[in-house]
Amino acid sequence: MCGIVGYVGEDRAKDILLTGLKNLEYRGYDSSGIAFMDNDIKIIKSVGKIKNLEDKLNYENVDDYKIGIAHTRWATHGEANLVNAHPHTVGRVTLVHNGIIENAKELKEELINEGINFNSETDTEVIAALINKYLDNDVIKTISKVMDLLKGSYSLGIIIEGVKDKIYIAKKDSPLVVGISDKGNFFASDITAINMFTNKFIFLDDNDVAEVTKDDVLFYSNGKKQEKSVNTINIDVNSKSKNGYPHYMLKEINEEPVVLEKTLKPYLEDFSSIPDLTAYGEIHIVACGSAMYAGMIGKTLFEEKANTRAICEVASEYRYKNNIYNNKTLVILISQSGETADTIAALKKAKELGQDTLAIVNVKTSTIAREADKAVFIEAGEEIAVATTKAYLLQVAVISLLALKLAYSKKLIDNIDTYLDEFKKIPRLVKNVIDRENEYKNISNEISNSNDVFFIGRKLDYAICLEGSLKLKEVSYIHSEAYQAGELKHGTISLISDGMPVFGILTDKELVEKSISNIIEVESRGAKTIIISKESLKQNKDLEICVPDVSSFTIGLLIVPVLQLIAYYTAVNRDCDVDKPKNLAKSVTVE
Ligand code: F6R
Repeated sequence: MCGIVGYVGEDRAKDILLTGLKNLEYRGYDSSGIAFMDNDIKIIKSVGKIKNLEDKLNYENVDDYKIGIAHTRWATHGEANLVNAHPHTVGRVTLVHNGIIENAKELKEELINEGINFNSETDTEVIAALINKYLDNDVIKTISKVMDLLKGSYSLGIIIEGVKDKIYIAKKDSPLVVGISDKGNFFASDITAINMFTNKFIFLDDNDVAEVTKDDVLFYSNGKKQEKSVNTINIDVNSKSKNGYPHYMLKEINEEPVVLEKTLKPYLEDFSSIPDLTAYGEIHIVACGSAMYAGMIGKTLFEEKANTRAICEVASEYRYKNNIYNNKTLVILISQSGETADTIAALKKAKELGQDTLAIVNVKTSTIAREADKAVFIEAGEEIAVATTKAYLLQVAVISLLALKLAYSKKLIDNIDTYLDEFKKIPRLVKNVIDRENEYKNISNEISNSNDVFFIGRKLDYAICLEGSLKLKEVSYIHSEAYQAGELKHGTISLISDGMPVFGILTDKELVEKSISNIIEVESRGAKTIIISKESLKQNKDLEICVPDVSSFTIGLLIVPVLQLIAYYTAVNRDCDVDKPKNLAKSVTVE
């Protein structure tokens, strides 16, 4: 994954690069580093979060530098230590890299045979060695030549000893944007790293190389000069504050009512603005992690309510599948960041194979938003906590609206106004749910000392379980699994032991009896069950949370905040780093 940022201009590079790195920390925080350039090149690196690098820089004499490249790392090749931290230098070349070089091993072996020594275990050092090997007066040509040798994905920021006042950048399959201003020019993995310094951006395309100086940015593709258009993008920079909440995760859950209102309002006011999917015989929903679990809710609604075959698949599998299109298919890509590498690859595949694509996406300037045939935006604003909450909920809201519209267009439901009224009430109902904080703290206290937790449910409830389970495990580090309630007894039930918490999600009237049987089965084996249901299906259990009765189009929007808050308070009880869980990154820009 990793994030890169660079600056050349008249201001203090240290301040700009540290700000950029802090805003890129969502892409990884295993280590970070900066290479400053003037007559010399000075490199400072640190292991762990950006704060550690900032502390280290306080003891370094780097305030006068006006040029630099910086990196925050999510380790792929080699452990998270100082040697593997970027920037990497070979000979005259120092660079930072986001991405993965797939043929690094072969290239490294060749270079070692030629007598090159490597310090780190990274694939990045191989790129530096190759550029250094082929370096001549035409740096753009050298970089292009090296790009022809590389397989994989990369965005690069490169400085060269003896080539003063210039930064070179290049990209393929990893995002890279240039920011321009009167006081200098920037590059970064995304605009949020630099949007406090400029609102003028130029997006690089695959295989682009550019030379960035204080007064100009020159773009090249395949050795030829390119003209690029400048985009003016204004982003709210105030969203960074925690608004008095102890964690971004809690702040973002509490923003759910407002962002739901903002996202839903235009569609509810003008139902015709929701894309009509009646032309498609089949819908494929492709995404990763929570976004994929939002898709699972969509799949269930498309099939159950709109009578349309739907497949929901993780993007890292989908991208390598063959023979997947029989009918006229719409491929829906769901992504908060719009930069998830596997989801981008799935989008490219669907387009190459001639399918229509629709993105449900938060970041409007992202690759997925720009490259899909159509995009429906969610209005989550910036989501900073690594574990998604508000963006997930909006993804569910939007895909549920798509399913509602399809069901209505296919004349499978007629009382559309009842459903639209329900959607209109959802922000208020979500607010009421979120406000019941003590109930969630109580449940969290019941599970905080457990080693394992299960979530069971059927159909839509199973889709909800998937997200509840992921949220709990990623922020609290408690092992957790979501299971289709009826499937548990085919093996997994052997894991149920005395006192083990099992969440039963009960929102489906048709299946409630069946799910209750499964709940009794685990209780008979000692499980401590916790029921999350809707009022009409209340079980009167000691540990139970009920939300208001709404249809299956919106019930997920009420149940998931409950599970998010239980995960949150459990993580707090266990003293976990709620906003930045270990080993994770907010945006997964590598395969
Ligand atoms: C979990 C989480 C991840 C993301 C996934 C996809 O809390 O945040 O599972 O949902 O990495 O990210 P996007 O939506 O940016 O494509």
